[in-house]
Amino acid sequence: MSDRPDVRESWKRLGSLATETVRTHLRDFAGDPARFASMSLRAGPLLIDFSRQRANAGVVSALVALARESRLEEAVDRLFEGGEVNPTEGRPALHTAVRAPFDERPPSVAAEVEATRGRVLAIAERVRSGRWPGVSGKPVRQVVHVGIGGSHLGPELAVQALVDRPCRVDLRFLANADGGSAIETFRGLDPERTLVIVASKSFDTLETLANARHARSWFIERTGRVDAMDRHFLAVTANPAAAAAFGIPPANQLPMWDWVGGRFSLWSSVGLSVAIAIGAARFEQLLAGAHAMDRHFRGTRLERNAPALLGLFGIWNSNFLGAGTHAVLPYDRRLAGLPGFLQQLEMESNGKSVRIDGERSQTHTAPVVWGGEETNGQHAFHQLLHQGTRSFSADLVAVAEPGHDLAERHRWLLANCLGQGSALLAGHEAGTDGPDAIAPHRGVPGNRATTTLLLDALTPASLGALLALYEHKVFTQATVWGINPFDQWGVELGKRLANDVFGALAGGSVAGLDAATAGLVAEVRKGSP
Ligand code: F6P
Repeated sequence: MSDRPDVRESWKRLGSLATETVRTHLRDFAGDPARFASMSLRAGPLLIDFSRQRANAGVVSALVALARESRLEEAVDRLFEGGEVNPTEGRPALHTAVRAPFDERPPSVAAEVEATRGRVLAIAERVRSGRWPGVSGKPVRQVVHVGIGGSHLGPELAVQALVDRPCRVDLRFLANADGGSAIETFRGLDPERTLVIVASKSFDTLETLANARHARSWFIERTGRVDAMDRHFLAVTANPAAAAAFGIPPANQLPMWDWVGGRFSLWSSVGLSVAIAIGAARFEQLLAGAHAMDRHFRGTRLERNAPALLGLFGIWNSNFLGAGTHAVLPYDRRLAGLPGFLQQLEMESNGKSVRIDGERSQTHTAPVVWGGEETNGQHAFHQLLHQGTRSFSADLVAVAEPGHDLAERHRWLLANCLGQGSALLAGHEAGTDGPDAIAPHRGVPGNRATTTLLLDALTPASLGALLALYEHKVFTQATVWGINPFDQWGVELGKRLANDVFGALAGGSVAGLDAATAGLVAEVRKGSP
């Protein structure tokens, strides 16, 4: 069967339903109390409200039919059982196994996952309890996580969301190529009390290696010790030889596996810095929360399946209602990193234009995902959301229970979240402000679809569930679109060109560079030392 989604009966049905839908307004649904009950659902600590989606029961039924016609349920079984769901690299994608209990993992990986998780938790507790002595015998109390993309975004989000402040460990993240970031990250750290974790699946990512070399030089220049890498450096990698060549001995290395994608790797040894920050018990709660969502995804009928519906409504908005972008709007400072994490998870997974069958996609795939920390966004880009000409969809993410004791402040935060969802749904008709000349300028059209995701509280379990929900949303959409969410061939060209330009900036030839790049290199070289 072709992987083309747009030839399926359900896809065609959705196309005709979209024609009807654009003639209705969400306001028409707003007054129906039964709608919230029928279009919201609970998945563990998450309440997910789809009732502000531009869809009636017929649309939902056709979306579920599309999932079935795309054989989503079979694909999910293949995912969990270690099937080759990443065909361009000939690999399974077993991030679900990494967070599963021993007896729910595929036997081929069960023991290795157990052993590695045990090492992660043991190192975390040693560092937290002051039992990791540095070169001078003083216990390490400062940790620098060096990594980028999937080796950075998930851990930083989880630490930001879950760490109890003041944290017993001074934990910092160093990701991008900007040397200023490296200088700032190490400013004020005591090399004799600092542990550097180099997280890199390939151990050949330019930014990460540059930052790792910066860390190594910083340490050696300040301690004078070239023989103490084993006390102050750990590697999390699928390339042990490269890590050893860098100076990190095998005993200081934790494995990453090629059957876990980088952007799906928080649950693995990439999460070591998270375990150090929040402790072994809470790290295991994070894993358990994600595993509970796995069980929901695999065991719940599609009509009430949270990740499947989140993915299907995304397809409805993007492929049928013309939404070009998708906003993730977290109404909690602890989730400020969620949009950035989801940009990689969704856009690096599903930003594809060639289907698994090798043909060019005839449908749009992932939309541009963006977002910002709310309510700051209300004073930055919500004007466009309310009165702009662009079509978009949005997730509003909030936490019912505050992470502090300022109850009234939290009520205001939630009031803004729910109020914005209401305004995006209902709008405000022009002219209702009286005859004045600017009445047309006051009109707010509304009819903007949103999903509200409400966490009971922000805990390791609820964060695990939330992130696993989005992972499975991505898988749902990839299955319908017929694309591979687990490779990322598109990033290779940029990496190669960066190396070419780096050589030219350092005085090498500009031959082979396009004219604009050569001209810009010449300008930079004019000013550079
Ligand atoms: O962005 C490309 C990418 O390969 C991501 O998929 C990955 O998470 C990131 O770079 C870092 O890769 P590595 O963990 O190999 O350093």
